Amino acid sequence: MVALLGICGSTRKASLNRALLEALAALTPAAGGTLTLWDGGLDLPIFSSDLPEPPRVSELKGAIAAAAGVVIAVPEYNYSIPGGLKNALDWVSRPPAHSPLRRKPVGLVGAASGMSGTIRAQAHLRQILLYSDSPCLTQPEVLIPRAQERFTDGTLTDESTRALLATFAAAMVAFVGRFSA
Ligand code: FNR
Repeated sequence: MVALLGICGSTRKASLNRALLEALAALTPAAGGTLTLWDGGLDLPIFSSDLPEPPRVSELKGAIAAAAGVVIAVPEYNYSIPGGLKNALDWVSRPPAHSPLRRKPVGLVGAASGMSGTIRAQAHLRQILLYSDSPCLTQPEVLIPRAQERFTDGTLTDESTRALLATFAAAMVAFVGRFSA
């Protein structure tokens, strides 16, 4: 089984992106993988090279290193990714030569309450991941607009979204396999 780590870029309890990741996790075993959600949070101190690395950053780095691939669920905030997620990626990216994200395969998914489906946030995240030379799965794109209409109490109820997530899970497992020794 290919072990994937899921990171949700939202910190709010009723996060649509967390619900999306949980739905993806339920569908991943059928694709030959496992998806474990990072539950250590992203409420980290603002990155500064003057600060020692916080223990939770070390834990997040360890979880990324242990996974064959990472799936990031990214909400769109002001046409980009949330600051908390960017800050976590800044921590994880240092020092660059030893970042666990270096050449780590990544898949992006996103859910939005509006119509954009996180298109702009995902585009920005792909750009950010260029720095760590992290290969990103390109297809299928998981851009879920009006996501609140597809979940009931955090459970996915929309069949077309479920089918898309199943296709994504299979593509992600195959993608990660291309980078495994
Ligand atoms: C948003 N939202 C939003 N939506 C969008 O399509 N484009 C945007 O630029 C923004 N900007 C934005 C900024 C801030 C500060 C907030 C709080 C929200 C809406 C947002 O993407 C939506 O509420 C998602 O549902 C948030 O993701 P979670 O928390 O449900 O996972």
